[in-house]
Amino acid sequence: MDAIKTEILYARSASELASAAPRAAALLRAGGLVAFPTETVYGLGACATDPIAVARIFAAKGRPTFDPLIVHIADRSELSRVLSSEALSDPRVGALADAFWPGPLTIVAPAAAEIPELVRAGLSSVGVRLPDHETARALIRATGTPIAAPSANLFGQLSPTSAAHVAAQLEGRIDAIVVAGPSRIGVESTVVSLLPGEPARLLRPGGVPAENIERVLAPLGPLEGPATASTSGAALPAPGMTASHYAPRARVRILDLDAPDLRDLSRVALLAPDREILERLKRCTAGLTVVTSAVLSEQHDPVRAASRLFELLHQLDAELQVDGGRHDTILTTPYPERGLGAAIADRLRRASAER
Ligand code: TXA
Ligand code: MG
Repeated sequence: MDAIKTEILYARSASELASAAPRAAALLRAGGLVAFPTETVYGLGACATDPIAVARIFAAKGRPTFDPLIVHIADRSELSRVLSSEALSDPRVGALADAFWPGPLTIVAPAAAEIPELVRAGLSSVGVRLPDHETARALIRATGTPIAAPSANLFGQLSPTSAAHVAAQLEGRIDAIVVAGPSRIGVESTVVSLLPGEPARLLRPGGVPAENIERVLAPLGPLEGPATASTSGAALPAPGMTASHYAPRARVRILDLDAPDLRDLSRVALLAPDREILERLKRCTAGLTVVTSAVLSEQHDPVRAASRLFELLHQLDAELQVDGGRHDTILTTPYPERGLGAAIADRLRRASAER
């Protein structure tokens, strides 16, 4: 892929946004790729109705085409451009949108005809969300079409929660980066499927805790529901939910502190849910070279931990890479799966999966 010039468009204030939004929108309408902030992670956007532009997303990320994209809208009224009339009349769609939009919830439901096959990865359903981020919505409004956007990282690598993370992975591969502050929530949206005749199912834990969704809908079906066949024929729990995802360059190992497996470890970085667990991790790794360490939240607050998760993984990974050791490891412990903790635990498990 030839390098292209990536424009940096600052949108850190209302006045910067006023000039960044029209420029970003012009690039998007011309079929370009623009990374932009959302409350969960930065997204890599293209016009959702332009199949060629959408194809560029897959090329820029190196993403397999069996992994569908999330379509972003700025207002509830645009939902009719994304979902089929059957989906629009499903009361569960309205109930979830009322309760959680704008916000970190993606609803998967039957797609409108205008949504290209590639966005849906050949499925008849599409994922849609209304982000709780003024800059993201201003950009979608200025463009005038829904925006398809996966997280703005290379396939299989850590999700970006800052413009700097995006630039490090995608500079030279995309047309522009809209720069605002760090993503407030820090883990991707919760994905819930609402398919006709099926119970609602949690496809990916994320920014809205599953417990909150179950307060609005009947209990959710299990994450590993009937496998969805990917176009390659392989069965996956949900398209795109490959076991190894969100991976830093270093290996990640989740230690059981009561029976720690320290085999094959030498240089490590410690990532602890809280201060107390960091002290226990330090004691049990006393014989190893501990390069650096970090605490997700001093007070063990999962909301704060989620907002720092990818940032700290990026940081520990960079510190471990200083002398390029290929077998360096980030050590962490199981994260309690309550509230946002389920999304944190899920991302850590995927980061630690065999690659
Ligand atoms: O918070 C987020 O959701 C971020 C920001 C940018 O909005 N986006 C994001 O996109 O995380 P991405 O591409 O990294 O994750 C999209 C995932 C897919 O891998 C798949 O698991 C699920 O959403 N998904 C999307 N459309 C689907 C569909 N039609 N059926 C099943 N799952 C779908
Ligand atoms: Mg992603």
